[in-house]
Amino acid sequence: MEYMFDHLYAVGTETLSFAPTFQGRAFLLRRRDGNLLIYSSGRLKEEADTLLSQGGVMRQYLNHRHQAMTSCNWVSDRFAARLFVPKLEEPAIAAICHVGGTFEQREFHFPDFEVIPTPGHTEGSTCFLGDDGQRRYLFTGDTIYLKDGEWVAAVLRVSDRAAYLQSLALISQLEFDVIVPSMARGPAYQVRDRAEIRRRVAAIAERLERGEAA
Ligand SMILES: [Fe+2]
Repeated sequence: MEYMFDHLYAVGTETLSFAPTFQGRAFLLRRRDGNLLIYSSGRLKEEADTLLSQGGVMRQYLNHRHQAMTSCNWVSDRFAARLFVPKLEEPAIAAICHVGGTFEQREFHFPDFEVIPTPGHTEGSTCFLGDDGQRRYLFTGDTIYLKDGEWVAAVLRVSDRAAYLQSLALISQLEFDVIVPSMARGPAYQVRDRAEIRRRVAAIAERLERGEAA
């Protein structure tokens, strides 16, 4: 487990088979009312003791179908933690994981944790906005991920470019301090001010409008 901030730890850091120069991570958002595990990793089991010592997991959230893996069932069994996923991603995820709840619109699941659908990469891709009282973390999955410090998108053959652009417009309006993607080469997260966030998201949108894939 890697310390990021007082209330945010990276868990299960692993090299990604489909992108061997990148690392994938889950993140534990430590909360007084119960810890949330964001994303997934095949290496969570190795960190069982550390997860327990941090208070375990109350819920796990996947932001899209590519994060479905059997370790999600280990989490739900080991910590009695329900797995929450986007409704539109549920059929694909439920083929692998026991789904405990779904969401399909922008809503607060807790006063400090908001679910914000941002379709494009996949039809149900969703961002999560967590607020620990000191800073606001936007969990973007791989809708926006970090490549040597740059913010990039992931337009696949199945992606909806128009929806992606709308979602980027929404993201650029959100108030957050830290971007926390599910995959990165180099630093796992970035702290940026509002003007820089808007500049970086706009740069992604310009590339997508030109027909580029990232
Ligand atoms: Fe993905």
